[in-house]
Parts: sequence; C-alpha cells; structure tokens
Amino acid sequence: MIVSPSLLSADFGNLNKDLEMINTSEAQLLHIDIMDGVFVPNISFGFPVLKYVQQTCKKPLDVHLMIVEPQKFIQEVKDCGAEIMNVHYETCTHLHRVVQQIKAAGMKAGVTLNPATPVCVLRDIITEVDLVLLMSVNPGFGGQKFIPQTLNKVRELRALIEETGSKALIEVDGGVNDKTGEQLRDAGADILVAGNYVFKAEDPHAAIHSLYIL
Ligand code: DX5
Ligand code: ZN
Repeated sequence: MIVSPSLLSADFGNLNKDLEMINTSEAQLLHIDIMDGVFVPNISFGFPVLKYVQQTCKKPLDVHLMIVEPQKFIQEVKDCGAEIMNVHYETCTHLHRVVQQIKAAGMKAGVTLNPATPVCVLRDIITEVDLVLLMSVNPGFGGQKFIPQTLNKVRELRALIEETGSKALIEVDGGVNDKTGEQLRDAGADILVAGNYVFKAEDPHAAIHSLYIL
C-alpha cells in the first residue's frame, strides 16, 4: 500500500522532528492540507510553510488544496515542489481545463470528492486524471470518524476505472487507521492518507508500517 501521512496532525512546534520521522519511514508520499477558511471551516498553513517542507522532506509531496479557485495557485504549488496537486471537484467549474493546466505544469493531477459528491460526476474526466482522492470525512479537520459509505464509493470508482481503462489511482483521506485501512484495501484503494493515526501514535514508524504492509 502507498502511505501518505498527513502533515496536518504533525507537531508544528517541532516540525523538523516530524519531517525527519517521515524521511526515515516507509511512507512513499507526504500529504499536505492547505485550507482557506472559505471552502472549508478551518485555515491551516500556506506556501511559506510548504516551501520549508519542500527543503526538508525527502518524500514527494501530495498537496491537497481545500481552497476556492485553486487554479490561481498552480504555479505556486509547482514551485513548492509538489508531485501531486489535488483540487476539489466542488471548487472547479471548469475542471477539465484545471486538470490540463496542472499536468501542463508538470504535476500529477488529482481530483478530490467530498463525501456527498457521487463518483459518477467523474465519468467524463476519469481517463484524464492521474488520481482521485475520495474524502472519507468532511474536509477541514484531522481526527474525525471514517464515513463507512466511502467503501462503496471506492468499489464504484474501481469499477469505473476498469470499465474506462483509466490509469487513475484511488486515494482515501480521513479517519484512516489499520482497521479502516484494511477495509479500504479490500475495496480497491491504492493510497491511504493518515494524519492522527500516524502523528499521534506512540510509534509513528510502526503506524506507517501497519498501513504499508496492507
Ligand atoms: C482533512 C484533511 C485530512 C486530515 C486527515 O480535511 O484533508 O488530510 O489531515 O486526518 P485524519 O487522518 O486524522 O482523519
Ligand atoms: Zn487531506
């Protein structure tokens, strides 16, 4: 399993320590949550922090933008070294154009769906995207409870990917732990994001390992 720990649950008073933990772990990505207090009811951090993370973290950055008009920041995200740029379906009127712009900037294009947004809205764009990020909580906060309906969405998305020959990976974000992680693996997920389960663990390396070996 590909594991993408979410920096939102890290200790920002000692970020170096947590980034060093990530660097020496089995995590293949680092998930970065950027919030604007408009699309979601919370504000996290912005590009100066992301720039610092880029300089310190050896893992590719998986950036999740929970902001309105994310297309305005494609170049900034690229300049912060992002490998993957995830934009929310709910924030992009011209999603097809935004996906092309992200890819033209040299990043992998990810489209994110809120829990209430059905998988079927992706039918006409699924062959264009590199990744679909399914939210298994309402975005904005770490430490929330996994929404079980996400398992059906993963199965439905897996079927759509197979039917269309899309190469998109399936990533899931919110309330992931070893138990929900196992269910998500069985449903067909490729990448698991985990915030609290990793950073609040007594042994974060072991928490990452438990997802990695799924
Ligand atoms: C929520 C964020 C998540 C969050 C997950 O809006 O997108 O990435 O950090 O945190 P946990 O794993 O604690 O639910
Ligand atoms: Zn996220």
